[in-house]
Amino acid sequence: MSTIFTHISKIHGLTSPEKIKFGKEMSQVDSLSNAYLRVDNGRIVEIGSGNPTVNENDEIIDLMGKDVLPGFVDSHTHLVFAAPRHEEFSLRIKGASYEEIAEAGGGILNSAAKLRLMSEDELFDHAYERVKSMILHGTTCIEIKSGYGLSVDSELKMLRVVKRLKETFPIVIKATFLGAHAFPKEFKQQPDAYIDLILRDMLPAVIADDLADHIDVFCDRGFFTVEQTERILLQAQKYGLPSKIHGNELGLTGGVQVAVKMQSWSVDHLEHCSEVEFELLKGSFSKDSGNGGYGGTMPVALPGTSYFLGIPYAPTRKMIDFGLPVVLATDFNPGSSPIHSLQNIASLACTQMKMLPEEVFHAITCNAAHSLRLSEELGSLGVGMRADFLVMKTSDSIKTIPYFMGQNQVERVFIEGQEFFA
Ligand code: NIG
Ligand code: FE
Repeated sequence: MSTIFTHISKIHGLTSPEKIKFGKEMSQVDSLSNAYLRVDNGRIVEIGSGNPTVNENDEIIDLMGKDVLPGFVDSHTHLVFAAPRHEEFSLRIKGASYEEIAEAGGGILNSAAKLRLMSEDELFDHAYERVKSMILHGTTCIEIKSGYGLSVDSELKMLRVVKRLKETFPIVIKATFLGAHAFPKEFKQQPDAYIDLILRDMLPAVIADDLADHIDVFCDRGFFTVEQTERILLQAQKYGLPSKIHGNELGLTGGVQVAVKMQSWSVDHLEHCSEVEFELLKGSFSKDSGNGGYGGTMPVALPGTSYFLGIPYAPTRKMIDFGLPVVLATDFNPGSSPIHSLQNIASLACTQMKMLPEEVFHAITCNAAHSLRLSEELGSLGVGMRADFLVMKTSDSIKTIPYFMGQNQVERVFIEGQEFFA
């Protein structure tokens, strides 16, 4: 028995042979009109136009002339946190910078202090509500980082919360170990001792309990140096843990260089990024970039952070014109981007970064899926893919998502062919 979704005005984001979209291709959406979808065991088994063949036991769900899109993929979040940081928001309104607040012991350390005091159950309850709301806004795959623990116990606590979220929700959730998010106060004068702690105690414990799918480092001015980043990633490689790193948020600090050298799956932020970095990123997609081509280092832009902190936006227009594939993510966190809807990110990307709605669509679907090496099963709609899709409120939904800023354009969410209810 299968479920057939009928009377779809248009299915957008059909699976293409390459699975990801580079440069100009980002503005060309593969769509099918007057369509239907057949789903079996959570996977798409047929997509067609016109009237489907209906067998006796098939269930029919009439989508009444609406648009269908693949579920959105949020490849960069910090959604396990104890509390908002609106005191810092007010300080920044009065003129303090993100870096000044961090220097004074606020920022990530503020979140770490609060998280240490919160029980695992309470952290889970908060994170549960956030994930639920994100799904209702169309996000059907989420990457979640640790990094507000900064001690063995608290980092493991955060990652166990992510594990519970994975077990609780039907969507795909991936965990990233970000012990190298900031230096705890007691290590400020001896930073390498903190790297030792990460490598000697945290990483082996994370691996032993199978709590992470990737590793991340905040490689930037005032945080982790390129050398420290490389040391951490080299050790992670020994465990076979792929990396996705924070880089070039605060300056041209070598984040792209180390990411490409270490074959990271993505380098995220890139508010500072020049043609030197563009060339390196482009080269990472060539077949002779190591291991016969490792799939490249995807550039991930986080416009919510630029908006919220008042820092430059990543030059994604130039990146796309240069031929790069671009990803957009929320960076959902209490310090630099308290934005959890990729629809709002889409709007910022259009108005502030001059990306076209079609480019944004690929940046939050198939390209985002590739940055998690998941584009073989999600991020587009085709035979064999997971049946994770959205029924939209309006027609022309790709254009209306960024247009109606702050309004949820998603009417219904299906995960593995089953409707998701809050
Ligand atoms: O991606 N830049 C580093 N980490 C987060 C911010 C974390 C925080 O301020 O709590 C980010 O923006
Ligand atoms: Fe981040």
